[in-house]
Amino acid sequence: CGIVGYIGGREAADFLMDGLTKLEYRGYDSAGIAVYHDGAIAVRKKKGRLVNLAEEVKVHPVVGTIGIGHTRWATHGGPSDLNAHPHTDEAGNFAIVHNGIIENYMELKEELLEKGYRFKSETDSEVVAHLCADMYDGDFTRTVQRVLARLRGSYSLVFMSRFEPDKIICSKKDNPLIVGLGEGENYIASDIPAILSYTRKTYIMNDGEIAIVKKDNVWVTDLEGNPISKKVFEVNWDAEAAEKGGYEHFMLKEIYEQPKAIKDTMGCRISEDGSHVQFEELNWTTEDVTSIGKIMITACGTAYHAGLLAKYFIEKLARIPVEVDIASEYRYRNPLTDSKTLCIVISQSGETIDTLAALKEAKRLGARSLAITNVVGSSISREADQVAYTWAGPEIAVASTKAYTTQLVTLLLLALYMGRLNGTLTADEESRILHDLTAVPDVCRKIFDCADEIKAMCSSFEGKEDVFFIGRSMDYGLAMEGALKLKEISYIHAESYAGGELKHGTLSLIEEGVPVIALATQKDVEEKMISNIKEVKARDAYVIGVVQEGDTEVRKTVDTLITVPASDNFVVPIMAIIPLQLLSYYIAVSRGNDVDKPRNLAKSVTVE
Ligand code: G6P
Repeated sequence: CGIVGYIGGREAADFLMDGLTKLEYRGYDSAGIAVYHDGAIAVRKKKGRLVNLAEEVKVHPVVGTIGIGHTRWATHGGPSDLNAHPHTDEAGNFAIVHNGIIENYMELKEELLEKGYRFKSETDSEVVAHLCADMYDGDFTRTVQRVLARLRGSYSLVFMSRFEPDKIICSKKDNPLIVGLGEGENYIASDIPAILSYTRKTYIMNDGEIAIVKKDNVWVTDLEGNPISKKVFEVNWDAEAAEKGGYEHFMLKEIYEQPKAIKDTMGCRISEDGSHVQFEELNWTTEDVTSIGKIMITACGTAYHAGLLAKYFIEKLARIPVEVDIASEYRYRNPLTDSKTLCIVISQSGETIDTLAALKEAKRLGARSLAITNVVGSSISREADQVAYTWAGPEIAVASTKAYTTQLVTLLLLALYMGRLNGTLTADEESRILHDLTAVPDVCRKIFDCADEIKAMCSSFEGKEDVFFIGRSMDYGLAMEGALKLKEISYIHAESYAGGELKHGTLSLIEEGVPVIALATQKDVEEKMISNIKEVKARDAYVIGVVQEGDTEVRKTVDTLITVPASDNFVVPIMAIIPLQLLSYYIAVSRGNDVDKPRNLAKSVTVE
């Protein structure tokens, strides 16, 4: 989502609408603005693209020189006029806009409902507006401090109040927020592009800081109100780079967003003591799981590759047979699907027509259905019986990165959940795997420390037009995704092979200097994998091994090594794909390709 705010001498709506246009890439399922004038806060909000809001504002203009705005990418509550921000309390004394997730909103909402507050939307954010009304003690700033003290989760928040229309107040935690400093006017934005054509002087807000933004000055304090002196940050980015948050490409930004995306996706799906999975949105019983005769996974592209790993997760942890099908193949092969089948469709966009059609076919054949998707309110999320969302945030680069890793996280959680419900998984095993999974957002940062080493490996791919990826067990699924990433953006031909299968034909293509990326993270098949590496080494291939930290054996057989943090066999693929994403990225950049929009491909394909 994107956030903007304005206070000054000009019409606020002009800046708000312009700022939102610059931020539309952050979310585009609904938008809204709130502007104060003459004792009242006027709100305009509309579902859909920003043009809908622009139309609304044209028909019903808002005047006033202080206001806030928001463009939404739905999380809690689907896209609708009511779920759009800004949110207000019932009396219209306070208006707020919010990015992030208020984790304890249910608890706060229940408390407020008991006190008689009435909610208009299904969002977590609305609680903040009612909390302001409930906690208001005659001092707006102090009220905001007290409201913030009650919130858990992540946010950038902007507040305005009818009682003190000389200021907007904002604060943040784990979400971006900046204050733009003007002459006799000041701006607030979640991201620099919104203010770039107005000012380059900014305060970059840190977690735990509150900015009280007036027309002529900006006052920053800590959460208790103690003053903090801020340094002015002069922005020197060009407008386009800034939209990528300073990264050269969306893909790189999205690769680096993975720790947060993974953390958000685990969210409240793991019990507080870390012992078990709780899938509140599914709320399955033992019977719901034992009645499944077979699981049918269908998806396209990267999401299909996530499905291939899910087969290992579910069959090993929950002992339920799993078939994985490319969505466009599934519906035309007269599939063996019936009421005992659980059909799982995986789709980042939730709009891929092949996947949607497969889902409809499975439903027609009587299957139960579950969608794993990243877009709230998407066609696939509406069509499926149940939905488990990945919380990766908007993915803009065509080559999927953070959507894939969050799909893996969701699928692994699902496998654990089913395994416990049907009694195939011990409590010990579940908590052991969860222990390693919850560590991923922190430990996978170690991979980013090696980005320069990975970049340096690009030279081994100069002039190469064929690359092989090999792996066994879950590393085989990962090899397929690694090869796809390389093909999509570098346009180098890449083949993925099961480690043991290479000798049955394709070994004939290995000759001196051919790059082979050998994934050897799976401990139970390590010895066999070493034999397969020796087979290609014997044909003078150039081998890059991917291993877990602490490896002593694979390193003896390869030319160079990429190390990922040591973890459980089920968890390590979630991290092991990251260096492969980085490698593909750097190779594509070195070839001068349009990384974010590779030739011939589209992000969301709505044709069969
Ligand atoms: C397109 C994209 C791929 C993506 C596939 C499935 O082909 O180029 O990157 O993996 O669609 O997309 P979905 O949104 O259904 O996950």
